[in-house]
Formats: sequence, C-alpha cells, structure tokens
Amino acid sequence: MFPLESRLSSLIWFSLSAFLLSLLLINSPEGRLPLILVDHPDNITDVLILGGSHAGLSGALTLARHQHDIIVFDDSKPRNWWNTPMHVLPTWEHRSPSDLRRTSRRELQSTGLVTFVEEKIVKVEKEHDSLFHATGSSGKKWSGKKLLVAIGNEFDYPDIPGYKDNFPDKILHCLFTRGFEFRGSASAGVIAADLASSPPHAAILVEDASKFAENVTLYTNGDHELAKAISTILVQKGESHISIDPRKIIRLAKNTTSNGITLSFSDGNDRTESFLVHQPATKMAEGIVGELGLETNARGDIVTKMPFYQTNVPGVFAAGDSANPFKNIPSAIFQGANAGAGIARELPRRFTRHSTNRLQSGGLTTWFTNWIRA
Ligand SMILES: Cc1cc2nc3c(=O)[nH]c(=O)nc-3n(C[C@H](O)[C@H](O)[C@H](O)COP(=O)(O)OP(=O)(O)OC[C@H]3O[C@@H](n4cnc5c(N)ncnc54)[C@H](O)[C@@H]3O)c2cc1C
Ligand SMILES: *[C@@H]1O[C@H](CO)[C@@H](O)[C@H](O)[C@H]1NC(C)=O
Ligand SMILES: *[C@@H]1O[C@H](CO)[C@@H](O)[C@H](O)[C@H]1NC(C)=O
Ligand SMILES: *[C@@H]1O[C@H](CO)[C@@H](O)[C@H](O)[C@H]1NC(C)=O
Repeated sequence: MFPLESRLSSLIWFSLSAFLLSLLLINSPEGRLPLILVDHPDNITDVLILGGSHAGLSGALTLARHQHDIIVFDDSKPRNWWNTPMHVLPTWEHRSPSDLRRTSRRELQSTGLVTFVEEKIVKVEKEHDSLFHATGSSGKKWSGKKLLVAIGNEFDYPDIPGYKDNFPDKILHCLFTRGFEFRGSASAGVIAADLASSPPHAAILVEDASKFAENVTLYTNGDHELAKAISTILVQKGESHISIDPRKIIRLAKNTTSNGITLSFSDGNDRTESFLVHQPATKMAEGIVGELGLETNARGDIVTKMPFYQTNVPGVFAAGDSANPFKNIPSAIFQGANAGAGIARELPRRFTRHSTNRLQSGGLTTWFTNWIRA
C-alpha cells in the first residue's frame, strides 16, 4: 500500500499529462499525434508562401499533403477586395470569395503545418536555391527553403475621371464571372482600350456583351483609327449593326435614375448605358519581383514554366493572377496546386535532427499515442 499523498500526486500528475496531451490532439485530424512535435533544428521553414488568397492557399494545401511546413504571408488585399459574389467555381456559385478563403484557412490550420502571418513582405533575399529570407513590414524575418509567389497584381485603371468610382459596380471586367447578373439589359458599352485595344479582341467582347444587352456600342475613347479597324472586323463578321462611337470620354458617372452609367463626351453630349465592359490593365507591385530577379512578360506577369510554374529563378515558383493571363479563381487554384506539387518534389522528406521523423519512430511517442487513442 502506497501512502495516500503519493497516490494522490500520481493521480494529479496523470490527469495533468492527459489534459495537456488531449489539448495537443484537439486540432489533429483523425486523432493522429499533432505534428508540432516535429523538431525544427535549423529554424528554416520548408516553404514561404507570399500571398494567402486563392493561389497561395491552394499551394499550401498541396504542400501540407506532403507534410511540409509552410508559412503563408498575407496583407489582406486580394484582387477582388470588393468581395463581389464568386462565379465559375463549381459548388461555390454566387458565394463570397472571402468565405472561401476563411474555410480554406481553417482546413489548413487543422493540419498543424501551416502558419499564417498577417503581414506584408517588404523584402525577399535569396541565399541559394534552397534558402530564402523574407522580411515583413514589422522588420521580422523568416527563412524558408522554397518560395511560392502568389501575390496577385494590381489594376492600372484608365485615366478617365469617374472610372475608379464605378468599378466594378457598373464596369464589368469579365463577362464570364459577372455578366449573367446583368442579362436582359437595354444597352451596354464596350470600351476598346487596354487589353481590348486589339481589334479582334474588341470584336469578341462586343459579341459577348450582346448576350446580355439588346444594344451594344463600342467606344474607342478618341481613337479614330481603332474605330475604323474594329469596324472592318465587325463587318467581316456580319456584325455591322454594332455602333461604334469614337468620341473622347471625359467622365463616367453613376446614373441613379436609370440605374446605369452615364458617359460624358468631349463634344458636350451624354449617353447612358446599363453597364460598361472593360478590363483594366494589370501591373505587378514593384519590390519582390525585382529583388528576386523574376522574369516578367509584356503584361507584367511573372513568366513561369508549365506544368509546375517554376520561375526563371531556381527555388522560386509563382501562381495565380501574378503569373497567369487567365485571371480567375479556378486558374489560381489550379496553378497553386501544381506549383505546390513542384515545390514538394524539390524538398526532401521532413527529417528531424535524428534523421527520422519522431512521429514515425517507436518508443515513447507510440506508447503515448496508443495510450491516448485507447
Ligand atoms: C471585381 C472582381 C470580381 C471577380 N469575380 C471573380 C469570379 O466571380 N470568379 C473568378 O473565378 N474570379 C473572379 N475574379 C478574379 C479573382 O478575384 C482573381 O483571379 C483571384 O483573386 C486571383 O487569386 P490570387 O491568389 O492569384 O490573387 P489575389 O486574390 O489577388 O491575392 C493575392 C494576395 O496576396 C497578398 N499579397 C500581395 N503582396 C503581398 C506581400 N508583399 N506580402 C504579403 N501578402 C501579399 C494580397 O494581400 C492578397 O491577399 C474577380 C476579380 C475582380 C476584380
Ligand atoms: C526562430 O524563428 C523564430 C520566429 O521567426 C524567431 O523568433 C527565433 O528567434 C528563431 N530562433 C533561432 C534560434 O534562430
Ligand atoms: C436598340 O436600338 C434600336 C435601333 O437604334 C432601337 O430602335 C431600340 O429601341 C433599342 N433598344 C433599346 C432597348 O434601347
Ligand atoms: C440618366 O439616364 C437617363 C436615361 O438614359 C437620362 O435621360 C439622364 O439624362 C441621365 N442622368 C444623368 C444625370 O446623366
């Protein structure tokens, strides 16, 4: 017989350990021992992901499936910060993109492998192909073996007064993701500028817009040569009924009476359309891309190689809007997943100091796991 105090203290000791271990297990899927027990001798994370929106989150998920640890940096400025309802992503029709990101974050957090840092990365340095350092706006530094750039890009709005105030409410940049909601409109205008300044592209947009509005006018904003070139193409296509208006637009304003948008021209006249179609040009934020020496194309997107979206800099991958002419969520998710797989293939198994993962070794860990599961 042990004295009562000794039995009591064992009981307390066991309850405490059991409590602590069950705390550790709470977030562990399928009751596996949590991965936070894995050593981090070098303090170097497997992958640093710059940008925690659709592309970055998808990359993190693929990497977590290979048990890599990841830090995702995000400063909450996704391209669709208006959070207009999402389309063309099966099962998420007309739902909020920020809800999708929140759900994805929860999934990733439950793996125990992904850390989220709400900070802008202001500087990135490469030491060698498997060692990168990122500095946040707070001055804090992180090191990782590989880098996934998923920072999206910024719009470069045309220089038309009132444009920014009406985007995206009355100016639709993509008629697949938004357009259906405007079906049956009386009239629409297509602004042939930026990406749509190529006559064949402008002609396609006019045809697209006419699926959602009875009458479509193409505006070339003072460019008479472009108006002629587009007119030739439209005639060839048998779309000669489309009117082309080459006048210079001096202002765009919301029209609350007609629930449309009014264009004011340099000749002093106005016209009101139900909606306008125009995709602003995009530009890449300076900084990271230049610091790493990433190659970009004429559109300002990062150049990558299919199918894993490696950049010209070994160890650096890029996915999503920042590296893609098709700037939509399914493409960002697809590229993020492929980049994640490419990065995982460049990383060794996550060894601990003892050259074997403690979670897979026997001994005390297994005993504790079995004891907890029992
Ligand atoms: C109005 C509008 C409506 C849209 N609707 C749809 C739709 O219905 N369906 C669809 O498929 N697509 C839609 N899109 C396109 C879609 O939003 C983008 O294709 C998608 O967001 C791209 O994802 P991404 O992860 O590449 O970039 P983003 O979503 O732009 O995210 C990039 C992230 O990186 C972060 N970041 C950038 N730089 C740094 C840094 N230095 N440090 C830390 N973090 C950084 C930003 O804060 C941001 O969160 C829409 C776009 C707009 C503008
Ligand atoms: C490891 O990284 C953390 C988080 O960035 C940092 O606070 C800590 O000082 C680092 N430790 C060592 C030993 O480098
Ligand atoms: C479309 O244009 C035609 C020809 O100009 C016009 O008769 C018709 O009223 C217009 N439709 C709408 C809905 O504005
Ligand atoms: C609003 O649209 C209507 C209908 O096209 C038009 O008559 C009116 O002038 C417009 N209002 C403004 C302020 O432009």
